[in-house]
Amino acid sequence: MSSQIDERPLLEVKDLAAAYDTRAGLLRTRPAAPVVEDVSFDIRPGETLGFVGESGSGKSTTGRAILRLLPALSGSILFDGEDIARWGRRTPLAYRRQVQAVFQDPSASLNPRHLVSHAVEAPLRRHGVRDRRELDRRTRHAFDLVGLSSDHLGRFPNELSGGQQQRVAIARALVLEPRLVVCDEAVSALDLSTQSQIINLLMDLQELTGVSYLFIAHDMGLVRRIAHRVGVMNQGRLVELADTETLFTSPRDPYTRTLLEATPAATPAGREERRALRAAERKAAAR
Ligand SMILES: Nc1ncnc2c1ncn2[C@@H]1O[C@H](COP(=O)(O)OP(=O)(O)O)[C@@H](O)[C@H]1O
Ligand SMILES: [Mg+2]
Repeated sequence: MSSQIDERPLLEVKDLAAAYDTRAGLLRTRPAAPVVEDVSFDIRPGETLGFVGESGSGKSTTGRAILRLLPALSGSILFDGEDIARWGRRTPLAYRRQVQAVFQDPSASLNPRHLVSHAVEAPLRRHGVRDRRELDRRTRHAFDLVGLSSDHLGRFPNELSGGQQQRVAIARALVLEPRLVVCDEAVSALDLSTQSQIINLLMDLQELTGVSYLFIAHDMGLVRRIAHRVGVMNQGRLVELADTETLFTSPRDPYTRTLLEATPAATPAGREERRALRAAERKAAAR
């Protein structure tokens, strides 16, 4: 399919198990039961791996383990060949810079009392950028990338629409030029046309920067549009992993079939078809 996708994985997850420990320390008599188990997959540079499955199937938990928001019980998570699941509590700054996240609710992830420029500047500061001009330049560039003007920089989150807020969250995730972004239901809270714009934006940004995405969504149609490959989670396990078109046209796992049957018939066209359409549109517009 896409020739720009390198074959060597950026991320390689092997036999991952993860659990939430909800009991108090002294009462801990046995390890918490894993909510994801035996999860193995990889993500290549420049690739979007979609993750689907019903609510509670373990999609976010897997994402959290990759983001190191939750320790792995067992298994390995190789990033660029290094097993990040074996690290202690501290996450190296270099890893945080390379692996970013965009979550569902942009208003919850933006501080209502800070200008949105602050949200994008903060990670730069955390990663050692001090020079005022450099901060301004990179912040403006990130806003530019996500289609926001410098006029938006000086606003508060509540002065932006949901779609614009999510653009800020994407600018914040991209400002450090990460190699992987975990998008966990990143467009689920937006209305349909805004969803569509943000999906297009993410795809454009990927083409421009070569970033990889783990794109988690319960909406199969959205995943079909953006993902190169798709993994299907069911009850904490990855039951199927295939090229997007293969998964949608000839699913092998019975659970995948059930999920697809629950998807409205009017599934939008797949990624490659849409890419071709948009390229033709751009060509026409340039004439
Ligand atoms: N913070 C938490 N503490 C305890 N259990 C949790 C927590 N978050 C999720 N779970 C449980 O882990 C399982 C998987 O959840 P999750 O990964 O959020 O699923 P998904 O993202 O696919 O909807 C569910 O059974 C859920 O109840
Ligand atoms: Mg979730």
